[in-house]
Amino acid sequence: MAANPTALEIRDLSHWFGDFRVLNHINLRIAAGQIVALVGPSGCGKSTLLKAILGTQPPSEGSVLVDGQEILAPSRRVGIVFQHYSLFDFLTAEANVAFGPKLDETSVAFRTFQFPQWRKLRKQHMQEAREFLERVKLAEACGKYPTELSGGMRQRVAIAQALILKPKILLLDEPFGALDEATRERLQMMLLGFYQENLLATKEGRTPEYTIVIVTHELNEAIYVANRVIGLSRFHDDGDQGAMVVYDRPCPIFHPDDPKDLADFVEQREELRRAVFDPSYIKHHSKYVSFWQDLEAAEAAVGPIES
Ligand SMILES: Nc1ncnc2c1ncn2[C@@H]1O[C@H](COP(=O)(O)OP(=O)(O)OP(=O)(O)O)[C@@H](O)[C@H]1O
Ligand SMILES: [Mg+2]
Repeated sequence: MAANPTALEIRDLSHWFGDFRVLNHINLRIAAGQIVALVGPSGCGKSTLLKAILGTQPPSEGSVLVDGQEILAPSRRVGIVFQHYSLFDFLTAEANVAFGPKLDETSVAFRTFQFPQWRKLRKQHMQEAREFLERVKLAEACGKYPTELSGGMRQRVAIAQALILKPKILLLDEPFGALDEATRERLQMMLLGFYQENLLATKEGRTPEYTIVIVTHELNEAIYVANRVIGLSRFHDDGDQGAMVVYDRPCPIFHPDDPKDLADFVEQREELRRAVFDPSYIKHHSKYVSFWQDLEAAEAAVGPIES
């Protein structure tokens, strides 16, 4: 979204494992409210890039800024959800969601020696946890344990667990990879719903709440859920030096109630497949990197776009 503040900035980031250079001068700017799909061949460095953004594996060179501040260690500014859920089986869904604020806002000493205040705060955390479970359409599952939930429901709890900490950016590393098609579609629609909330926030002059980078292997999913697709790949003219951003373009915006018309995807999916996944198609890395110019051109033609 052109008018929204920058949520994430990656400056000239490179990463090596020993002598093997995985990432080669990555530069990116993501505005608050964008839902970005990150695609690329297996092993190209998507998870490595996410770890740098998360702060668990600092880059060999370059920097990551979230909300203008450099990321040097994990913090609540960045949340993540992985393919395999990471819930505590001995806690109910709402207690799982309330777990982050509990750790972040209280200490053992506080919980032991200031019990009445802790009890009050605990109530607030549980109330908030229920609100976040409602946001991911799981109000009915508050009191259930993870073993009583389906895979899709668990992923929703994991997303609520990340969102309750109000991260400036939420990273999803193949979050729907282990789910069946119907469940996957429901979760995709949840993301489309988040995007609609972002549009409303922008319209009302608020900073949108959901800024998301989602890694997926499914190109249709990337084009469907995101308003921007970024491709990371070694298939460019400096590929020996590691993966670069070789694709960065807007993609069509779907409303959760819109039919998922596959014809809308065909052209962009082909462009994406060729630019990012075809080892024989070697080009200058920036040939398809035009998100901000594309947005400007579209705005010049039709006026401000909340992309
Ligand atoms: N801790 C590590 N030590 C050495 N090499 C690593 C390490 N982590 C990742 N790599 C290598 O770095 C490259 C990028 O790995 P990464 O996990 O980031 O890829 P990816 O794009 O997420 O792949 P996938 O789509 O399969 O998840 C791979 O060649 C991998 O073998
Ligand atoms: Mg990965």
